[in-house]
Amino acid sequence: MNEIFKRLEALQSEAKGDLREISDQSQLERFRLKYLSRQGAIPQILDQLKTLTPQLRKEVGKQANLLKNFLEQSFREMQERISNQAKTGGGEDSFDYTLPGRRFPVARLHPLTQVTNEIVEIFYRLGFELATGPEIETDYYNFEALNFASWHPARDMQDTFYLDKNYLLRTHTSPVQIRTFESRKPPLKILAPGRVYRHEAVNVRSNSTFYQVEGFYVDRNISMADLKGTLFAFASVFYGEKTRVRFRPSYFPFTEPSAEMDISCILCRGKGCSLCKYSGWLEILGCGMIHPNVFKSVGYDPEVWSGYAFGMGVDRTAAMKLRIPDIRFFYENDLKFLSQF
Ligand code: DAH
Repeated sequence: MNEIFKRLEALQSEAKGDLREISDQSQLERFRLKYLSRQGAIPQILDQLKTLTPQLRKEVGKQANLLKNFLEQSFREMQERISNQAKTGGGEDSFDYTLPGRRFPVARLHPLTQVTNEIVEIFYRLGFELATGPEIETDYYNFEALNFASWHPARDMQDTFYLDKNYLLRTHTSPVQIRTFESRKPPLKILAPGRVYRHEAVNVRSNSTFYQVEGFYVDRNISMADLKGTLFAFASVFYGEKTRVRFRPSYFPFTEPSAEMDISCILCRGKGCSLCKYSGWLEILGCGMIHPNVFKSVGYDPEVWSGYAFGMGVDRTAAMKLRIPDIRFFYENDLKFLSQF
């Protein structure tokens, strides 16, 4: 290959390297002198073309002119960039690395959603499927099919928001049991989280809108032992391995026998403190064996099928776990509160 050809290639890569280094006017001037000025490399090469055969002169000349155009173009662009920088006192490339970064507000899940998800996740691993139901319910699903007698106080206007003669806001997630039983056949292992409503005085421990998680399992030969084992497994994961549980007899129209489950206080571990009101225990859920009348109302034979159910309030659970003294904080949408979780 011709000497001048090689020289052109070397010049091109050298010039590209030099261009990357240029950041001010004097460096740009040095670049111009080195390549483009009358004594610069390009005119020198063009001068040497005379010595070549006409055939070579044509080829090399073409290359030399391409390089010349490229360098002139680069020179003009660089010139413009540098004069812009001078005008704006910095320019597009100047960046103050000592400035603190810009904060982008990042959305996050509401603490009640986070806690619900955590509960759902644990029961999911225990084999539960998810189900949901409407928040506007009828008396039948919310009460009657769940074996609430007509005189039951929960049916009273004092406790329930009635929308009209037929519709009400569900007071618990238990109607999802009935809706699921109606549309499917056992075996069923279901978890149903959702929002519920009660006509209640609002205070630090209760609100007129809150969240529950309902769980139920129907199959042949389900016993109270299955219920206890499952809830104990849940408590050990959700509240910690050392958590103890106890079951106290209770009453719900849709379960027989019925119980309430307590856990050893997560703050004092049972010694007694203000959270557990010096009892050492925290009440966390209601549960029991599904009442035969409930099965009858959906056409399941109570001689064949048995099952357990449980229901827990998410708000109080979350308040205990996250150490929040007043559940109303969950509904105030104060970012100073919400962004802590
Ligand atoms: N539905 C009840 C309530 O809102 C909670 C409950 C208790 C649900 C016992 C159940 C259960 O499934 O077996 O107070």
